[in-house]
Amino acid sequence: MKRTPEPEELMDEADQARAYAEADFSAANELFLELFAEAHPKDFQGRILDLGCGPADIPLRLARRYPQARIDAVDGAPAMLELAQQAITTEGLDKQINLHCHYLPSPEPAREYQAVVSNSLLHHLNDPLDLWRSIDGCILPGGQVLVMDLLRPETPEQALDLVKEYAADAPEVLRRDFHASLHAAYTLEEVTEQLQTSGLGFLEATRVSDRHLAVRGRMP
Ligand SMILES: C[S@@+](CC[C@H](N)C(=O)[O-])C[C@H]1O[C@@H](n2cnc3c(N)ncnc32)[C@H](O)[C@@H]1O
Repeated sequence: MKRTPEPEELMDEADQARAYAEADFSAANELFLELFAEAHPKDFQGRILDLGCGPADIPLRLARRYPQARIDAVDGAPAMLELAQQAITTEGLDKQINLHCHYLPSPEPAREYQAVVSNSLLHHLNDPLDLWRSIDGCILPGGQVLVMDLLRPETPEQALDLVKEYAADAPEVLRRDFHASLHAAYTLEEVTEQLQTSGLGFLEATRVSDRHLAVRGRMP
């Protein structure tokens, strides 16, 4: 089916941010951690940048698993960052995770990260190349990239089936957002083309679940 962009890039409505923060994304977020673990040693100590961190569930999981890593987490929505800060402070991880209110693509964070990660941001961006350019601008040579996002279903019926399967009991605002996100997501072919256009054709885009793709690889 044809792509329909998200109505809003940022998730800055208080109700929307809270519903998202309270939702259970543990299956997808644990998959993300497994993919990260495949590319990093158990005692990874580098600096990680998370782009579009939302309520910081992934930075928190990374911080617990890699206590020596330092994590910068970026989002353009103050409503999300407020919830992220509460969660980080509750766990006492303020020294390990630093939040930044930053609207991609500009200005870019500095080139100082051994790993740049992002989950479910790509399909939100008006210009998807903003994500690939941002990653290219802040990752160190030899650094690892991990981007995961939804994969656009082939038909509107398949999108509805995924909403039924994975969000049947979720609040209406989340069901609406998940449905819109499936329609806004990219296909593997589109992402591969974005990578080639951005000069990142050495990164590999693969399907990693019935509804997710991942882009992975090491910078030269
Ligand atoms: C679907 S959420 C994903 C949050 C988190 N990464 C996760 O996995 O739960 C997408 C996040 O990207 C943020 N976002 C969208 N466009 C952005 C932009 N141009 N710059 C920075 N953040 C952006 C939204 O505010 C939202 O918090």
